[in-house]
Amino acid sequence: MKILYATSEAVPFCKTGGLADVAGSLPPALAEQGAEVAVVLPLYQRVKERFGSQLKFECYDFVDLAWRHSYCGLFSLEKDGVTWYFLDNEQYFNRPDLYGYIDDGERFGFFSRAIVQMLPHFKFWPEVIHCNDWQTALVPIYLKDDGVREDRFRSIKTTLTIHNIEYQGRYGMQTLGDLFGLDHGWADDGTIIMDGDVNLMKGAILCADAINAVSPTYANELKLSYFAHRLENIMRRCEYKLSGVLNGIDMKLYDPAADQRITANYSVDDLGGKNTDKAALQRMMGLREEPHVPIVAIVSRLVSHKGLDLICEVLHDMMELPMQLVILGKGDRKYEEFFHWAAQQYHGRMAVRLDYNEELSMAIYAGADLFLMPSKSEPCGLSQMIAMRYGTVPIVRETGGLKDTVQPYEAWRDAGNGFTFANYASSDMLHVIREAVYLYKDYPDAFSRLRKRAMKCDFSWARSAKDYLRIYANITGQPWPPVAEEPAPVVEEAAPVVEEPAPAVEEAAPAVEEPTPAAEEKPVKKAAKKTAKKTEKKVRKDEKPAEKPEKKASVKKAAAKKETKKKGPAAKDKKEKPAE
Ligand code: GLC
Repeated sequence: MKILYATSEAVPFCKTGGLADVAGSLPPALAEQGAEVAVVLPLYQRVKERFGSQLKFECYDFVDLAWRHSYCGLFSLEKDGVTWYFLDNEQYFNRPDLYGYIDDGERFGFFSRAIVQMLPHFKFWPEVIHCNDWQTALVPIYLKDDGVREDRFRSIKTTLTIHNIEYQGRYGMQTLGDLFGLDHGWADDGTIIMDGDVNLMKGAILCADAINAVSPTYANELKLSYFAHRLENIMRRCEYKLSGVLNGIDMKLYDPAADQRITANYSVDDLGGKNTDKAALQRMMGLREEPHVPIVAIVSRLVSHKGLDLICEVLHDMMELPMQLVILGKGDRKYEEFFHWAAQQYHGRMAVRLDYNEELSMAIYAGADLFLMPSKSEPCGLSQMIAMRYGTVPIVRETGGLKDTVQPYEAWRDAGNGFTFANYASSDMLHVIREAVYLYKDYPDAFSRLRKRAMKCDFSWARSAKDYLRIYANITGQPWPPVAEEPAPVVEEAAPVVEEPAPAVEEAAPAVEEPTPAAEEKPVKKAAKKTAKKTEKKVRKDEKPAEKPEKKASVKKAAAKKETKKKGPAAKDKKEKPAE
């Protein structure tokens, strides 16, 4: 299986959020499972500065974006069994930040167009292009666009991962042709239009062969207006190709037994070092060195959907509990000011650092006892998994990936790996914080067992990589794991099955979408493959139009039916936020 993973950021090259962590870990995990993987990223200034000497220049070409004809260089680097490609255009990417520029639409329009145009220069012709968020959402669209499409693109399937549906790539109508080089057909049938704006995420959701959210719960939430930021109807319409795949974390990078970034190492069998880390954290943050007072920690961007309003509402009640509070993060001014002010009221018991600081965050994961994430919505969330790995017990609201990774503590049967609350209500949050703090204070043995259960959770990427490979297998029709070639007898067996081609053929894609259990698979699959090939030939003979162009037409038509009815006010949000 040949996978091209398209992303606007990836650790260790460039990062603004969780997307970078995922894009840095998933491709190597796919490669470990036996897939051939390449990743494609923009060549940002910071990548050039930090990795420039390791980059190999491959070639250059020119990329057409509407009336623009721009240089695009291709650089590469081999790492962790994956080829990392970087697309160079200084005008677009040689800037200090990744996002936040007035021309972000043009920059990522160029990036997506360049991915498609540079395909012949990559080391393999991909079977799947895996896109992520709005920045690469134009790739599935361009592959189906008449102005761009080439016959050979037909063999490429696309999948789109939605890390956060809030950021959709919305631009004014005039950008459709002038910026993105798409003809008005895309607007007329509504495929790429939402509330009067060009909406790249919507277009990709409709055009991609598969879409997934970064947790099963978020996949379900995306069908509800509370979470979907106006795309709930599209999500419901595309439910047939939607799945939820939980992110993992890099278990080697985040390993309290080996992590060089923390003061003392420890493991689930010997937690001694965690006490040292706690004392170190208290010193570092100017907190009283009290070993038996639980530290509740927050490491988060300080923005509304992280549920910070709940904390603001009951902060003083929280601080009446026998606990200390540590907050690390920056973001909206109102939260920064509030937390800064509050920390002054609770000197020695509450400490705040308004910063993005990787090193300090590790000291917090290692030194704290409880980790608070009361998010209003959380597509997956990686911090709660990292916290658990470091024995810092999470307190979360049951949403998205938080719900999928944290099972509530149940005292009566000594089960669960954290604390949860369901309603977005500060009183409910306060109730579980109180429960957690008093479990720590009054039942240290029970708390210690809970901590160990959290530490033992397996959040490795291997599991998620398998889920993605299953998605790739479904859309390409290739079996995964690859079926070993078997000699002759299978041909004989295949004969009767070939007699039943019709249903499998008419709906080739769905037939593959539900692979039969591996154990019974081999002979049938081979037969099915043969059947599919035969009918493919038949179809060609009969000169029926091929499946994919039809697909575009039907996608577009389907979209058109609904979209022409809707003409809401154009709520414009031109400046896209960073990837979440
Ligand atoms: C975004 C989401 C976060 C998720 C991450 C990686 O940052 O907000 O919940 O963990 O993407 O998928």
